[in-house]
Amino acid sequence: MDGKTAQQQSASQKQTAKNNQKRILTGDNATGKLHIGHYVGSLQNRVKLQHDYETFIIIADMHALAYPKYVKNPETVARSVLEVTMGNLAIGMVPEKTYFFPESAIPEIYELGIIFSMLVSHNRALRNPTLKEEIRDKNMGDKFSVGFINFPILQAADILCVNADLVPVGEDQVPHVELTREIARRFNSYYGETFVEPEPLVGETARLVGLDGNAKMSKSLGNTIYLNEPEESLKKKVMSMYTDPNRIHPTDPGTVEGNPVFIYHDAFNPNKEEVADLKKRYREGSVGDVEVKEKLYKALSDFLAPVREKYAYYEGHLEEVQEIIEAGTVKTRKEAQETLAKVKERLKLDLV
Ligand code: TRP
Repeated sequence: MDGKTAQQQSASQKQTAKNNQKRILTGDNATGKLHIGHYVGSLQNRVKLQHDYETFIIIADMHALAYPKYVKNPETVARSVLEVTMGNLAIGMVPEKTYFFPESAIPEIYELGIIFSMLVSHNRALRNPTLKEEIRDKNMGDKFSVGFINFPILQAADILCVNADLVPVGEDQVPHVELTREIARRFNSYYGETFVEPEPLVGETARLVGLDGNAKMSKSLGNTIYLNEPEESLKKKVMSMYTDPNRIHPTDPGTVEGNPVFIYHDAFNPNKEEVADLKKRYREGSVGDVEVKEKLYKALSDFLAPVREKYAYYEGHLEEVQEIIEAGTVKTRKEAQETLAKVKERLKLDLV
């Protein structure tokens, strides 16, 4: 755990102690199924904190349309709304406590998004390391849409429409929360105190490397383990993971730092003694990759078995998922309507 995360966590604990009615808003783009990278970045924190915060989970289908691949495939986005909700439920979000809603179902978010876009300079919108990284990694060149550049502003509308205090996210989303804070601050200074400046909260493992050692686990790179990964492919994926490329024989001393297999052990193997022993033997060259991977497979399999089971339950009860989303949308819409009314009043946009 790095220092920043520890600090952020203690800040959030203080908030919790002060007032247990504080709000979380977080969520996921509707761009396919959730994977264990989402878990370490954001899901783990939201599952843990849902008992202390009133929690809103956005399924960002408008965000999905910011990408060429998804704007051409509405069916995939629609299916993803359900997949992402099921992923959240399977990993442990309690439906009675959480408000799930699709971004597209809250028109007030679009309205706030347009208003907020007036408070952000064009240069500032472009000065976003995560956008730049995505443009590069997804080979978007200069072909990205206006909506793509605008989506962090829409994300600010997601967060501020319920005036959230805390936003558990993966490391890559922190620039968007920073922008949200700037928008809240500017709005408050122009029109009077209206918004809370929300805090980001990043998971203990800020960013999970992919199975192939790529810096990011991502569906588009095909290096993921899904939350409902079937047992057989889980085993296959773990056993063919990238490790230390310089280590040829089990008797060669190996490198633990930055080695994906050990990063995953640290994140998912609850048996810390076993992990410490494997690391020691790896460094001195007295354990083979196969044993290290088999133990990782066992840890991941234990972790994912109940998740997979719950996921399958919801896949067989889609009407329950639909009801959960409908109830969450009603609640969120009410909150967003109140926020928008206040915003329009402050901006004198309330003549009729
Ligand atoms: N863009 C986020 C992601 O890619 C998902 C998201 C959309 C989000 N709106 C949000 C996260 C608001 C936190 C708060 O993961």
